Amino acid sequence: MNILANITRMWLTRSIKPFVFKNEYDNFLEYMDHDKLGLYVHIPFCRSICSFCPYCKELYSEEKCEKYIYALLKEIDIAGGRYKSKKTVTSLYFGGGTPALAVKYLRVVIEKLNEYFEITQGIGIELHPDDVTDETLTMLKNSGITKISIGIQSFSKKYIKLLGRKAPDAEKLQKTLSGYDFETISADLIFALPSQTYVDLKEDVETAFKIGANHIAIYPFIDFTFANSGIKPMKKTEKRRLLDMITVYFNNKGCKRESIWTFSYKPNSGYSSMTRENFLGFGCSATTLLDSQFKINTFNVNEYKKRIEAGKLPTSLTLRFTRRQRMIYYLFWTAYSTKVKSKDFEDFFGTPLKKEFGFELWLMKKCGFITERNGIYEMTLKGAFYYHHYENYYTLAYIDKMWGIMRKCSFPDKMIL
Ligand SMILES: C[S@@+](CC[C@H](N)C(=O)[O-])C[C@H]1O[C@@H](n2cnc3c(N)ncnc32)[C@H](O)[C@@H]1O
Ligand code: SF4
Repeated sequence: MNILANITRMWLTRSIKPFVFKNEYDNFLEYMDHDKLGLYVHIPFCRSICSFCPYCKELYSEEKCEKYIYALLKEIDIAGGRYKSKKTVTSLYFGGGTPALAVKYLRVVIEKLNEYFEITQGIGIELHPDDVTDETLTMLKNSGITKISIGIQSFSKKYIKLLGRKAPDAEKLQKTLSGYDFETISADLIFALPSQTYVDLKEDVETAFKIGANHIAIYPFIDFTFANSGIKPMKKTEKRRLLDMITVYFNNKGCKRESIWTFSYKPNSGYSSMTRENFLGFGCSATTLLDSQFKINTFNVNEYKKRIEAGKLPTSLTLRFTRRQRMIYYLFWTAYSTKVKSKDFEDFFGTPLKKEFGFELWLMKKCGFITERNGIYEMTLKGAFYYHHYENYYTLAYIDKMWGIMRKCSFPDKMIL
């Protein structure tokens, strides 16, 4: 598995140089000249811990959460306070963990971000189904949240039991959600669970629409080595059949494939913290992607607070890109949207996409993975599946290794991927 990811990396970067993450960092992040910058804030607390989940999180307590928020505000000051003027950014996403648990602090975090940034495309947040209450939704609305994403996983008793969670009450969700007009109501579903059929998955999607979702994310189940799910992932051919059938179902319903995993029902109902050229991340485990670097914050809540108390950014590791590596990063993340535009690439790098990757684009067209129209490369159904599939390799070869190390060591010396 690692071999495939390594060969692909060497081929695309035209270099045998691996991705080297070092234990060093800039305390001054130069983001002011970056276009289409997005913001991400990580809140690492949950009411209970799911065995399958790879994210950086720990059990919630009111006291821990309050102290964490205090550190978060300081981190935003350290990063933003260097500039005199405000930076226009696209959107802000709160992820976790279960960030809705910090609902009473959201307003103050958003106000702090507003001191340094002007958010132009709305604010999103992740909720556990248990957070869908009138009290929480009202507070989210009053804090300026415009998009919500609910971690449904599955409505089916059989599959939710397999994931070790309780089945969400669809009727109750529908009743509560109907009282609020969020621009996006997204539902996360996990698919490709053992023996799951198209009918099972379609039922989940239909119920998600019934409760009021206008955007649906279907994540293939990933068996992270350091998680402890005991669930066997589905075989490639079965997964492909499921993904192709559900994509056709979404198309027939008039939904737009917004990204490799997500489908939206209305034109303005987007929810994506991924498909951005540059982003600044705050909080434990949050990553930042800028023109010349990718950095990752420490996963340890106490070490995170200590660094910030010392007036420093909580960066654990930094990858300084070669130009070619940055191009690969750009293409990998923008390809999540299932489209890559030549003009955007050229605006970003000052060189034509065809000049840099002419052979790869030709090969992908020949293999039926992409089509080209007016300089826009779009994935076919087959291409989207293989992207999905390769993304799985990438996740297991890189993310699994990276997160596995970061969970054990707050500030590793070096990481080579
Ligand atoms: C941070 S959680 C969402 C909010 C909330 N904590 C919850 O679980 O309801 C992000 C999403 O990642 C997805 N996810 C977590 N572990 C996964 C895994 N092993 N494979 C695929 N998707 C996973 C789930 O769909 C989950 O809703
Ligand atoms: S799936 Fe959600 S609730 Fe479960 S541990 Fe992960 S972040 Fe927490």
